Amino acid sequence: MAILPQANSAATGPFVLEAKPSSMQLVPPEFGQHPETEVWGFDGTVPGPLIRARQGELLQPRLINRLPQPTAVHWHGLRVPNAMDGVPGMTQDAVLPGDDFLYELPLKDAGTYWYHSHNQSTEQVARGLYGVMVVSEAEAPETDHDIVVVLDDWRLSEKAQIANDFGAVHDWTHAGRLGNFIHAALTPQVSEVQQNQRLRLRFVNVATDRIMTVSLLGLTGKIAARDGMPLQEPEDLGLMVLGPAERADVIADVSAAPGESVQVVLHERGTAYLLEEIEVAGRHAKAPRGVVAPLPDNPITRLGSLSHARRISLTMEGGAMSGLRQGRYEGELLSSQELFEAGQIWTFNGEAGLPAEPITTAQRGEIIRMPIHNNTAFPHAMHLHGTHFQEVLPDGGLGPLKDTLLVARRETREIAFVADNPGDWLLHCHMLSHQAAGMKTWLRVT
Ligand code: C2O
Ligand code: CU
Repeated sequence: MAILPQANSAATGPFVLEAKPSSMQLVPPEFGQHPETEVWGFDGTVPGPLIRARQGELLQPRLINRLPQPTAVHWHGLRVPNAMDGVPGMTQDAVLPGDDFLYELPLKDAGTYWYHSHNQSTEQVARGLYGVMVVSEAEAPETDHDIVVVLDDWRLSEKAQIANDFGAVHDWTHAGRLGNFIHAALTPQVSEVQQNQRLRLRFVNVATDRIMTVSLLGLTGKIAARDGMPLQEPEDLGLMVLGPAERADVIADVSAAPGESVQVVLHERGTAYLLEEIEVAGRHAKAPRGVVAPLPDNPITRLGSLSHARRISLTMEGGAMSGLRQGRYEGELLSSQELFEAGQIWTFNGEAGLPAEPITTAQRGEIIRMPIHNNTAFPHAMHLHGTHFQEVLPDGGLGPLKDTLLVARRETREIAFVADNPGDWLLHCHMLSHQAAGMKTWLRVT
């Protein structure tokens, strides 16, 4: 099933992005008769308009706030100037109801990015304030269909309305706000493909908190990009695990025969659910194109040697079943009970909420490596604003460029990056319930 946002081709000159309440038929008829769902959406659609632009262009969306709350838009994964990052209280003031804000986004990198509210985001993203941005390469690989697949997770009442229990204690202390209606929205809403056609499928997990494990049937191909950035060596297509905010670009040929279908399957606690399928009608060519070549690289520096890197470590604590005793919050040392009463459940390096001081101040160009110790009983999707990082692998090698990394419970993973984008940048868990309940810090690049 899919929701069709309007395509937005205006990439030259300012264009309007209006955050406003609206309603839509979210639950499709195969689930029985359901009323429309009241949502908050950009231009009144969920997902918001698909923004298509070309690498090298300057994108100028003007946010107009027609919501009953202040808001701001973060351009997730884009390496933007700090003042355009959309973080209220840090890079701009929240845009009040009735006000507007002009963003200016130079598109350095090609790839699959997304945009979402970064104010009261546990509520605003859960209500639908997100959309996808596709920045095309100067020389895009040849494909027959280029389809955005938005994976979302809604918590709906019996009347198909968004449950307004935002900030429920059990969610914040556990795995976050998990919904009861998971769905994949395809843009465009392709209803059929042909055998041996080549598809580019751009998966985006926009869920506030749910990790999506997805497999694809009827396709043979590779994952060619992660979090927007091309993989130097495309990865085999197996089970794809996407934490909140993670993306994967799949380039694959239709192997299913006419009469069969291409299927997007969600794996959740041992059960497989068909999220979406596309019929295969006819045959496009005698043989598939076969090899998936790497995408053209983006102008971002990959790390070389880490010998001059400075190490800053990040330790996560808190949540249910963790035995957190105390933590700092707004400058004071509080017991875990006092933290809990302040709505703070999780800490980074012993501190809940946004600290007054950055976790580090980096000189521009400095290489930072950061071991992340997850001393909690839950996975966390760590997201760095401002630039992509690479994982330092246990064998000393470096992983692909990413902006969000899932760190499993009780696991340590290490990231490294060149601090080359000046400004103040957030580093937080993208399980938005965890972020709201304490898991955030920031770094300064001078
Ligand atoms: Cu996608 Cu700080 O966010
Ligand atoms: Cu988390």
